[in-house]
Order: sequence, then structure tokens, then C-alpha cells
Amino acid sequence: MRPNQASKTAGLVAFLRACGDLGLSTVPGYSDPTAQALMTPPFDGYFRWIKRAARVVGPKRLANLVRERRLDSVPLRTMAIDAALREALALGATQLVMLGAGLDGRAHRMDELADVTVFEVDHPSTQAEKKKRAQGLPKRCKDLRYVSVDFEREDVASRLAEAGHEPKQRSVFIWEGVIVYLTDQALRATLQSVVVSSAPGSRLLAQYRQPSTADEEARLQTMVAKMGEPHIGPRTPAQLAQALQEVGLRVLSDTSGVEWAFRFGATGQIAPTTANTRLVVGERS
Ligand SMILES: C[S@@+](CC[C@H](N)C(=O)[O-])C[C@H]1O[C@@H](n2cnc3c(N)ncnc32)[C@H](O)[C@@H]1O
Repeated sequence: MRPNQASKTAGLVAFLRACGDLGLSTVPGYSDPTAQALMTPPFDGYFRWIKRAARVVGPKRLANLVRERRLDSVPLRTMAIDAALREALALGATQLVMLGAGLDGRAHRMDELADVTVFEVDHPSTQAEKKKRAQGLPKRCKDLRYVSVDFEREDVASRLAEAGHEPKQRSVFIWEGVIVYLTDQALRATLQSVVVSSAPGSRLLAQYRQPSTADEEARLQTMVAKMGEPHIGPRTPAQLAQALQEVGLRVLSDTSGVEWAFRFGATGQIAPTTANTRLVVGERS
């Protein structure tokens, strides 16, 4: 991330969620009514333009026009994580820790969090933007606490403890769209913090990106490098499984965007971005 600048890729993800909410993905039933309010510049400007275009040509026609632009990937990963989150809550998690929360709207859109304390953990620059933008949104969770942490330099477990996170209660951790930006050292230190902060039965839902073809890697790297946030860590399923197991997290599942596309009934072509995005679910024994 660029020093003193909120994450641009967090803005991009909020933009893609807002596009999904507008009906521009092919994932049936996808919605995120919070995404538009949380979006940062320049994406809010692009989105206003897209909304005008959707009014003129209709969302379905616009969706057909932009189908190859990989608009299913973020809605699908959001739905896969929401489903895994609901499962963890049904099993008794009372705390949700969002690692690298960005402009995620779950605390403001999921009624299932009514009895849950949410800890949004993020880099201080991004979090300052998020706090401003979330002010006007109602909370759907029991309590929302912001915890600012740089994963490369600080200890997540002690920052969570300072914010009142209870390691003896069952938690669910979401780590979405972050791992690819982190060094191995930050990856392992954060996993260690997850375990230190977790009661048995707690779950980690970690989304990551596996390496793609040389062409696709080059395309993605060009895009994110322009935003000052290079993808330094695409990782294989075997690497992620090993990292989880090393700290004592049992791997329950590891699924890909291809599986989610079938599960959630997406009808668009499966783009490489979708095929290479994955979600590993680990459990603290
Ligand atoms: C692509 S965004 C994803 C945000 C959110 N999880 C989502 O899916 O909408 C990447 C997030 O990782 C955070 N991040 C990147 N490097 C970080 C670091 N070293 N410490 C803390 N947060 C970091 C950014 O601030 C940003 O919120």
C-alpha cells in the first residue's frame, strides 16, 4: 500500500460489489445495498456513469455488454464467504473479526450479525476512509469496533485484545482479498494471531488467489501496480494448507470460483479471475 493513502483496491472491490448490486453480474440473487455508499474515488465517479448507462440501455443489456469484464468474480466470492459465515454463526460464533475489512459492508447489511460483535481490522489509512463513509449506514451487528493494524508491522492478537476481543469465545475470521498483498512473514504472523485469539471451534475463512497464466498475471499486475498495491503473493492451495496446518488450523474445505459459479447459478463465462480465486476454511481444534 502507498503510505498515508487508503487502499485503492478496496475501492475497486466496493465498486465491483455495487455493479453486482445494480444487476451487472450474472449471479442470481446477488445484492449489496451498502457498496455504493462505501465506495471511494475515483470509483464512485465511474459508478455514477455506469448507473446512467444502465438507465439508458437497461441493466440486462449493459450486463451483456460488460459480461467478459469479469463482473462475477467479486459477487461470487462474497456469496461463498457469506454462506461460510452463516455456517460458522450457526455453530455458535459470537465474534466476527474482519482482517483487512476495507470497504466491506457486512456489519451494515447482514441481519444474522444481530447478536455478534464485529471487529473491523485494517490498515489505519484505509480504516479512516471506511469510518467516514460508514457513518450514515445503520449497523446490523450488536457492536462494531474498529481496530487499526498494519499486518506487516504489528501484532494482530494484541491489538484485538486491546479492543476487547474475547479469545475464550468462539470467533469467525474473514480474510478476504488481502492475502495476495502480504509477505509470507505477515501471512504467518497473522495466522498465528488468529490461533492465539481463537477458542476451539473458531473458523478462519481465507480468500486467496492462486497463480494464473503468464498473460493473466501480467494483466492483473499492471492494473494493481497502477493503484500502488502490487500482488506480491498469489499462492497455491498446497501453500495455504501448509501455512494453516503449521499454526494448528485444520483445513475443512478449499473451494474455487468455478465451484461457486455452479453452486450459485452464475450464467456468465467463467473468467480466469473467477477460476483462480479460492476460499480455504480452517478450524481451530
Ligand atoms: C482488495 S482490499 C479488500 C478489502 C475487503 N476485505 C474486501 O474484500 O472488500 C485489500 C485490503 O487489505 C488491506 N491491507 C493491505 N495490506 C495491508 C497491511 N499491510 N496491513 C493491514 N491491511 C492491509 C487494505 O487496507 C485493504 O482494506
